[in-house]
Amino acid sequence: MDWIARYLDETGDYPVVPRMQPGELVDALPSSAPNQGEPMEAILGDFQRLIVPALNHWNHPRFHGYFSVSASGAGILGEMLTAAVNVNGMLWKSCPAAVELEQVVMSWLRQWLGLPETFFGIIHDSASSSTLHAIGAARAMADDGLREEGSAPGLVLYTSEHAHSSVEKGGLSLGLGRKHIRKIAADGEYRMRPDLLRAAIQADKAAGLRPFCVVSTAGTTAVTSVDPIAEIQQIAEAERLWHHVDASYGGVAAMLPENRWMLEGAGRAHSLVVNPHKWLFTPIDLSAFFCSRPDMLKKAYSLVPAYLSSQDNPRAVNLMDYRIPLGSRFRALKLWFVMRSFGYEKVCAIIRDHIRWAKELEAAVRAHPLFEVAAPVPMSLVCFRLKAGDEPSKALLEAVNESGEAFLSGNVLDGKFVLRIAIGNLGTRREDVFRSWAAVCRLAEEIV
Ligand SMILES: Cc1ncc(COP(=O)(O)O)c(C=O)c1O
Repeated sequence: MDWIARYLDETGDYPVVPRMQPGELVDALPSSAPNQGEPMEAILGDFQRLIVPALNHWNHPRFHGYFSVSASGAGILGEMLTAAVNVNGMLWKSCPAAVELEQVVMSWLRQWLGLPETFFGIIHDSASSSTLHAIGAARAMADDGLREEGSAPGLVLYTSEHAHSSVEKGGLSLGLGRKHIRKIAADGEYRMRPDLLRAAIQADKAAGLRPFCVVSTAGTTAVTSVDPIAEIQQIAEAERLWHHVDASYGGVAAMLPENRWMLEGAGRAHSLVVNPHKWLFTPIDLSAFFCSRPDMLKKAYSLVPAYLSSQDNPRAVNLMDYRIPLGSRFRALKLWFVMRSFGYEKVCAIIRDHIRWAKELEAAVRAHPLFEVAAPVPMSLVCFRLKAGDEPSKALLEAVNESGEAFLSGNVLDGKFVLRIAIGNLGTRREDVFRSWAAVCRLAEEIV
């Protein structure tokens, strides 16, 4: 506990990422486990001596890679208690607290997101799992014979070319096959084009195929663009498709009153995922999955062996009926700690700061003669590149990360390499953002 408290105070003093070669930690550790137990002092000593120097400090205020995420003290405390009580929330009977608190926090979160009461909430480990379950439920809605037949030929899934790979993976895992997954082109601001979605559905229907599901995104991984969810919802309604909204990252931004437009139309969708482990200060892992057709989740996933049969009380929810895994950790506890200890207004204030600093950073990039901004900045991710081209931009990314001063990640957008600065960390202050930017500018001048 003391180590954790000190670490959270001092994370900013560490180099953001380790300077080490692949395999170094493996070589430093014994190749077999001990036969006799070791004292805790020795284990904790090795944790500090060997493990900590090999950590990427995701909690560091200048960790701007991927989507910048962080764990709050409240969330960590909840996580520790989860491990201590070690209950399994598969059935109401197997642990009423885990099942009922999950319903309470999911209802609280649903209200923060502005979604209607018709949404049933269930917690998964990751957005990838949530989206897989959504597509599975969509398939169950589309095909009554699926359980007996074992396959659903001709079903077609639609998403944007900028959707996260978890959408395609979900489709593939359910046996769709790549040629039945359409990636609809985006407009100049990286948003799925509804006209092309409509055209693709018509073409597939004309070819005798069966459109069944569309996945839109609020906050794409590449640039945090927001698909026109309301228009996509209208198409889904007209064509009787399941509409799943991937708001894994953007959902938290959409909680702010001024950002409500980001989820406009999502209240009528069939399902939505948001990840508190991304931008809501909850330790990994916790993905919140909302579904307005829990009957279809049940149709897809409920199988009850005799040893798990239980009472038929509608208030006794059995989570195993709505998902693939039987058991689950008591994840709701850490989200309850986070939501209670921050409260809605503080969450909004922090997210609002992140977005404001990203806009300020965007302006600084635009004003700098060596750089250009690569995409609009609706949330707190700034994508930019050196005007000098791909190779200097790649060298810059490497130089920044090697400096230990900040950690950024890279991507390829429109065929060109871009650097990304994501702001989402609880410990990040405005001066951290501009300290990272100063390091980027200094190293860029050396490179160019
Ligand atoms: C938009 C989006 N969807 C889904 C995912 C996958 O999230 P997870 O790691 O929880 O599966 C990501 C990850 O960054 C994402 O950005």
